[in-house]
Amino acid sequence: PAFTNDIEAILALKRDRNAVILAHNYQTPEIFHCVADIVGDSLALARKAATVEAQVIVVAGVHFMAETAKLLNPNKMVLIPDLGAGCSLADSITAEDVRLLRQRYPGVPVVTYVNTSAAVKAESDICCTSGNARAVVESLGVPRVIMVPDEYLAINVAADTDVEIIAWRGHCEVHERFTSADIRELRDAHPGVIILAHPECPPEIVAQAEFSGSTAAMLDYVEREKPVRVVLLTECSMSDNVAVAHPEIEFIRPCNLCPHMKRITLANIRAALEENRHEVRIAAGIAGRARRSVERMLSL
Ligand code: 13P
Ligand code: SF4
Repeated sequence: PAFTNDIEAILALKRDRNAVILAHNYQTPEIFHCVADIVGDSLALARKAATVEAQVIVVAGVHFMAETAKLLNPNKMVLIPDLGAGCSLADSITAEDVRLLRQRYPGVPVVTYVNTSAAVKAESDICCTSGNARAVVESLGVPRVIMVPDEYLAINVAADTDVEIIAWRGHCEVHERFTSADIRELRDAHPGVIILAHPECPPEIVAQAEFSGSTAAMLDYVEREKPVRVVLLTECSMSDNVAVAHPEIEFIRPCNLCPHMKRITLANIRAALEENRHEVRIAAGIAGRARRSVERMLSL
């Protein structure tokens, strides 16, 4: 009942305010299934943000996702319900770090994961997500790239391409916690289980999984291969959201919670729409260059 009041209020506010809600796959099921208009992985959210016609965009996700939506919609109001919804990867690197990397490796292009601030994107040549990282790296037609800030994503992409990749030492606090012991225990306890690992996981985890891909790629795999029993080594809400649509499949946990994604609730989405909080603004000197990096990725 508590949820129902907020859901009804949010649906009414969306109509009154000509607003849409973008929700990442890691949002809890009541947000993902009951109030979101657009859902997906980081790449899908960026692509779809570029086509939104509503005047107000609420991002049910983390701050870098709201910044990306604002970069692509400079004349719209973009709201993030909790300013504390950050990301350990985005926090691991600054614009100054990227400038120093360029000095150390002159002429080597910088590929930047979207899990970064707009200021870091502004110092970059092109962005990528986990859904297109290899294609972005190879699109540059060079033998060597710098890829920031996720060390594990960089190593996992390097395993699949001839391009040499210079990595940074950032990690996702959710995915870095999966261990080989987790995988051994899973295979012992659930014979025949299919293991899907997000590419932010350590390389030894990805190497032991049947499949690795972005959250959208994991969903595609489940729908295409229809495994009897599967584990998604990623954030907990991912399995919850996919399991709702696929009751015939057994979803085994473990999973890890992202404390940043979990700061977004129905209550603060409602408050965001009622009180315009918190409006995302990006300094003009940063926005133009950051937008170019995102649009270059989207144009591929
Ligand atoms: P994707 O949804 O792009 O796979 O990203 C995962 C993630 O950790 C986003 O914060
Ligand atoms: Fe950042 Fe990891 Fe949380 Fe995604 S899951 S927002 S990469 S800390």
